[in-house]
This record gives sequence, C-alpha cells and structure tokens, in this order.
Amino acid sequence: MKQDSLDYFLHALGALFRMRRMYPPGKKQVAQAAKQTIQRLADWGRPVRITLLGNDTIIESRRLGVLPLSFQHFFQALRQSGCDSVQIEADAGEKDLLAWIEHVISKERSPYRSPKIIAGALSLEKPSQPPEVLAQAVSGYLGFLSQTQEAISELESNKTEGLVRAREIVCAIAARLAVGKGLFEPIHELKNFDDYTFTHALNVCMLSSALARAIKAPSEWVNAISLAALCHDLGKKEVPKEVLNKRGPLEPEERALMQNHPAHGARLLLNIPGVESENSLLPVVAYQHHMAADQSGYPKPPAPLSPYGRHFASLLVAVVDVFDALRTIRPYRPALSVAKASTILLGDAISGKLHKEYVSTFLSLLQILVPGRCVVLSDGSRARILEAGSGSALAPIVETEEGCVYILSDPSVPQLSKIEEEGMERNSSSPMDTPSPSFPPP
Ligand SMILES: [Fe+2]
Ligand SMILES: [Fe+2]
Repeated sequence: MKQDSLDYFLHALGALFRMRRMYPPGKKQVAQAAKQTIQRLADWGRPVRITLLGNDTIIESRRLGVLPLSFQHFFQALRQSGCDSVQIEADAGEKDLLAWIEHVISKERSPYRSPKIIAGALSLEKPSQPPEVLAQAVSGYLGFLSQTQEAISELESNKTEGLVRAREIVCAIAARLAVGKGLFEPIHELKNFDDYTFTHALNVCMLSSALARAIKAPSEWVNAISLAALCHDLGKKEVPKEVLNKRGPLEPEERALMQNHPAHGARLLLNIPGVESENSLLPVVAYQHHMAADQSGYPKPPAPLSPYGRHFASLLVAVVDVFDALRTIRPYRPALSVAKASTILLGDAISGKLHKEYVSTFLSLLQILVPGRCVVLSDGSRARILEAGSGSALAPIVETEEGCVYILSDPSVPQLSKIEEEGMERNSSSPMDTPSPSFPPP
C-alpha cells in the first residue's frame, strides 16, 4: 500500500540516523542503511514533507499521534536543531541523505538547503529569499483541496475533527511557504477544478498565509490567520444554493440572505468545541470579513466601530477574499484577469474599502506593479512603470507616453487608476475600460 511505503521510508530514515550515530561516516553499515532508505524513498515515489509543530508531527497532511520508537530519536534531533519543516525530493540520492544526516548530527541550528533536501524553521524568513519563489508552482494543491473538502464538511457538522484537519492543512501550507514553494500559479490554473466553496476556501487560506508572512506577522499569527481564512465563508452553508449560484442580480430579500452568511459562519464556528477558547480569531474573521475597512460593507454594527473595532486579520483576509472571488468564474460573470482584478483591488484601496497597505503588499507579492508594466493614471494618461515603488507598491516611478516622469508617492501628481494586461504595449490599448470597483464580492 502507498501509505506503507511512506512509513517504511520513515523507519529506514530513523535506522540510518541510528547507524550514523553508532559508526563514523563512510562505514559500510551507514552506506547500507542509506541505500535502503533511498530504496524506500523510491518505493514511495513522491516528495516527502515533514512538519514538526509543537508536539505534533505531520507527515504530508497526516498527523502522527505517537511516534514509533524507530524514528522518534531522529525527529527529536530535528526538533533540537530548531528544524520544524523538511522537504525531501522524490529523486534524492544516498549522498543527499547522508549530507543532510551529517548536518542534523552536527546539531547545527542553521537551515539546511541542498538541491534535493530543504530543512529549516517554519518562521524562517531569509531576507535573501527572493519573492519570485511565490510565483513558482506547488504540487500539493489537489491534496490540500481534498483535505479542505473534508475539513469544511466536518466543520459544517460542528465536528472538532474538522478543526484538527484544518490545522493540519494550515501547517502543511506554512511548511511549503517556509521551504520556498510558491502557491500562486496552481491557484490561477486550477480555478475551476472543483466546487467553488472548497477552491475558494483553500485559495483564500493559502494567499492569506503568504500575505500574513509578507506583512511580517509573527508565525503563530500567520497560522491563526490562515486557519481563519480557511473557515471565513463557512456561513454560506446556510445560504440557499439557488441564491449562491444565481445568474442575475440578487433581489433585496436574496441579498439579505446572502449578507447573513458572516453571522451564520461566526455562530456555526462558536458552536464547535474548542473554537471560543482556543481559536477565537475564527468567528471574528468570519463575522467581519465583509465589513470593509471603511465600514461600508456588512454586517452593519449598531454603532460605528473605532478603527480598532475590526481585527487586522479580518482586513487582511478581505483583500485576498475579493481578489480570489474576482479571479473565479461565477455563474453570473466570467473570471477576471489578474490585471483587472488587481485594478479593482487598487480602486477599493483608494476608496478606503480595502486596507491600502495590505493591498499594496498583496500586489507586491503578485509582482504586478513591476518595471515595464503599463498603467493608466488618474488623469487618463498612459504610462509605463520605470521603477517599483519603494515605500508602497501603489506608488511606483512611471513615465507617461508624453515623456513626463512621475514619482507617484508625490500626492500632487496623478495617481494609479488602472493596471494594463501584461505584455500590453503603450498605444495598443483599447479605450479606457477600467472595471468599476465591486466590493464586496458575494
Ligand atoms: Fe464571505
Ligand atoms: Fe469569501
């Protein structure tokens, strides 16, 4: 069985570690154990992801309750060296494994990076790590998707198991981000693969995790925000399918049903044992994610909230939520391009509906406002970005078709109003067709 192959590999890895502690490097016992371990890895045939989180050990997306003795010591050594995330490629060889084992034995606390094995701390944010890693593909999307489906179904039935499973998904996503695996490309490609509910929940979770890390939220917050993002739309369970999937505009009473989903979601989450005491951010984000930064959204609080009345996690998830909703085909409209969805985010940031700095950081992550990109300014002139904004991605240095150079951080010059499609040349664009801001998404 496939699962057995993975277990055999872990046992073999534990045995290799024990052998190397008993014998010096190069001894035949060590070489034999390495050979056997690689054979087991080949039997498994896929990369192996290990996440060590507190007392939890997560292999792929499976949580191991009690660790078998055969690899307990090895995992203990990993923990002691400050490592909580490991990715071993399927085609790693004996030399790769032995080099990594030496690193673990040396008790070196620095992260380990080789072409086939990456190991380090989940909170690891190497300043040298280029943001482009976020644009690379991730192979585990479909696995995450089926887990998300099960987690949401269990949460909808008020089962605590759903919470455990959701936490595992969040940890696995954090692990992938920590080892530099990107998340955006598969999200773009797989938009319409499955039921919107699950792909949307997973995408918002993944992108919120990336955005939370980008704003340098502490790692415990990153996981809490990702978990809240995964559960943000749980209340849609209470909205009739015909309203959720209606092709035309909603009638006032249908809109009211739809706009109840934040309250439904918060209530549903509060009924799950352990949420109120240990995961109180979940109902907060579920309740607030459509409120909008300027409180123009829903639900409306009885009295205006102070700027601190909405949790920063709700404002962060709202940015990602709008983007993912716009990028998805819905029964009532096609999916928007990245450029069009980003233009709407920009408009909502300028109008105050979305948190401006979170939109700016999010567009930086997506690498939208980079040199060469054509944009339209608020006076209608077309321009090309010469240099990305240093303080804010929304304020790059641009040159207009007329040859004027503007530093958009200067409030006296025209501001960004539209992001053109990638590869679009100046002069070749159709007349202004800026999509109008459409917050909040359904
Ligand atoms: Fe929602
Ligand atoms: Fe949503």
